[in-house]
Amino acid sequence: MEEKKARLFSAVQPSGIPTIANYIGAIKNWVALQDSYECIYSIADLHTLTVRQVPAQLRQRTVELLALYLACGVDPNKSVMFVQSHVPQHAELAWILNTITYPGELARMTQYKDKSQRHADNVNMGLMDYPVLMAADILLYNAEVVPVGKDQKQHLEIARDLAVRFNNRYSPTFAVPEGIIPKVGANVMSLQDPMHKMSKSDANENAFISMADDKDTIIRKFKRAVTDSENSISFDENRPGISNLMTIYSVFTGLSFAEIESKFAGVGYGQFKIEVGEAVADLVCKIDAKKKEYLADKGYLEGVMAEGREKAYYMASKMLNKVYKKVGLYIPERKK
Ligand code: TRP
Repeated sequence: MEEKKARLFSAVQPSGIPTIANYIGAIKNWVALQDSYECIYSIADLHTLTVRQVPAQLRQRTVELLALYLACGVDPNKSVMFVQSHVPQHAELAWILNTITYPGELARMTQYKDKSQRHADNVNMGLMDYPVLMAADILLYNAEVVPVGKDQKQHLEIARDLAVRFNNRYSPTFAVPEGIIPKVGANVMSLQDPMHKMSKSDANENAFISMADDKDTIIRKFKRAVTDSENSISFDENRPGISNLMTIYSVFTGLSFAEIESKFAGVGYGQFKIEVGEAVADLVCKIDAKKKEYLADKGYLEGVMAEGREKAYYMASKMLNKVYKKVGLYIPERKK
């Protein structure tokens, strides 16, 4: 008999066009994980509302993100793919979890503190409550495994704490999720300031490669990438610029650092940057072309959304009912 696969949950916010850092750190791994786990991949639109959005743009970015998941190889026949707001149990479980969460543990979150500064004109309760909604996403499906970038580790800790707290206060209910951090590429840095993470919200567009950049743009951005004055291609923590380019090249070509070093022995930064740009452009443009094909078929995309919603809703409503019962909410006979 086939062994039951562990359940895995992850999500990306439709808050902008993903960068190659999002691709490498999240979506690329999702594709590989589909065969080893029972995967549930969400589009975290409710999270996105914690900072100001242009409504029409958020709507468009939601379908675009779904098209991107598909173009990258997330397969609706293997994994459940759905839009967070289509399954109301996420918001409902977040409310229950709020009642066992302390303001102090949310106020000390690094991301909350960062975002409160960056969006000082819009510090809202949602921004503070963000990790609780994220905990609800994960716990609702009894996910045992959550692939997350380093920046989300603290949030995963809260999800674990809340699972344990709920289980202790009531009775064993939630699986306590484990985080897995992808080995390579978990840390793609800014092309302009390699001491900082590559981010789609960077004010300097040369700092990141978006998954919708065209070939010329990609190559131009790599040509301008900040390196150092040594001009030799080798991996060295004290030279974060060239090391970042090597990391990116390694992920896009499958070559190891040693292989890259020998391939480019005696070659200067200028030539290497162009080759990195070409390797990245090859794949990014291929994915973008596929994404556009999916976007042209709205009927198909809506079908994928509806199917994902149905599967997620079934699992989520079973779990939420269980939770409501445990905390003492009255469940009418017909809903049991
Ligand atoms: N907060 C995550 C991010 O911005 C996205 C996210 C929402 C998520 N819910 C999640 C990730 C649940 C993992 C599990 O990267």
